[in-house]
Amino acid sequence: MKLRVFVTRPIPDAGLNLLRRAKHVLLDIYEHDKMIPRKELLRRVKGSTAILSILTDKIDKQVMDAAGASLKIIANYAVGFDNIDLKEAAKHGIVVTNTPGPEIAESVAEHTIALIFALAHRIAEADRFTRAGKYHGWGPQMLLGTDVIGKTVGIIGTGSIGTGVVNRLYDGFGVKIIYTDLTRHPDIEKRDLAKYCTLPQLLKEADFVSLHVPLLPSTRHLIGTKELKMMKKTAYLVNTSRGPIIDERALITALEKKQIAGAGIDVYEHEPNIPLALRKLPNVILTPHTASATIETRQSMSRRAAENILAFLNGKIPPNAIKQ
Ligand code: GLV
Ligand code: GLV
Repeated sequence: MKLRVFVTRPIPDAGLNLLRRAKHVLLDIYEHDKMIPRKELLRRVKGSTAILSILTDKIDKQVMDAAGASLKIIANYAVGFDNIDLKEAAKHGIVVTNTPGPEIAESVAEHTIALIFALAHRIAEADRFTRAGKYHGWGPQMLLGTDVIGKTVGIIGTGSIGTGVVNRLYDGFGVKIIYTDLTRHPDIEKRDLAKYCTLPQLLKEADFVSLHVPLLPSTRHLIGTKELKMMKKTAYLVNTSRGPIIDERALITALEKKQIAGAGIDVYEHEPNIPLALRKLPNVILTPHTASATIETRQSMSRRAAENILAFLNGKIPPNAIKQ
């Protein structure tokens, strides 16, 4: 008997090809390159053994019930898994997997570092300025930014992505790195890459604060009015993790009042909605949740999601099973 694998949106083909080649898999892929409507999702998951979901799909009890008793694994095409109700999955005896790994950590780390440098050197502002025909001649005080060398970068969360940023920055950028996490990170400590401190200390000391924590009840609004007030007036905030880690309204207020110098934001509290007030600010750089959007990473995520499903179907523990 063939086992039904439902993919909620077309993804790069590396993993899809693995699934296509598996003899016992009946692959069904939502045909359109847009988010699957809820009703269609509920209809299409019926009778599936596996769902390959993306981070915009809310996979809750209703979806699990709609799939029925056949559903055994949800393979999320993302590092984050806050779109999946893990408790409900555990109740249903469903395994949940994600797609962490060196490739995605590298891509998000690169995007984070790109935002840090783009903020410091005012790249996006300078681009808008130039395109608008405002460059009428070189000026000694025109569009002055700041150097990154010699500054302190504060990393909040040292999973694979936060550690990726630490490793990259340590190697040649001439910055001091500090970090905070629930526990000290053994490799960072052993290699003396960054100094451990508490969150308040980090917020007070860092010139760039970068977020790399998963979205959990305990990390929602980790950065709010109080935390923003602890930051230096000259500091920048970078978020490539999940939008709700920051209280977005508090951030807009802090930016408007110039309590901090600027922000580089890839993820938003109510995606895909981005408040107009945020979009109007000159000292922010906004990217549309594209920190992992490289060809290499999106292919490798596709492969990992498929490998998790295939391992499970072959009676093995999937390599990226999430502890529930
Ligand atoms: C992207 O946001 C991911 O979680 O992979
Ligand atoms: C700037 O272009 C310089 O030559 O210093």
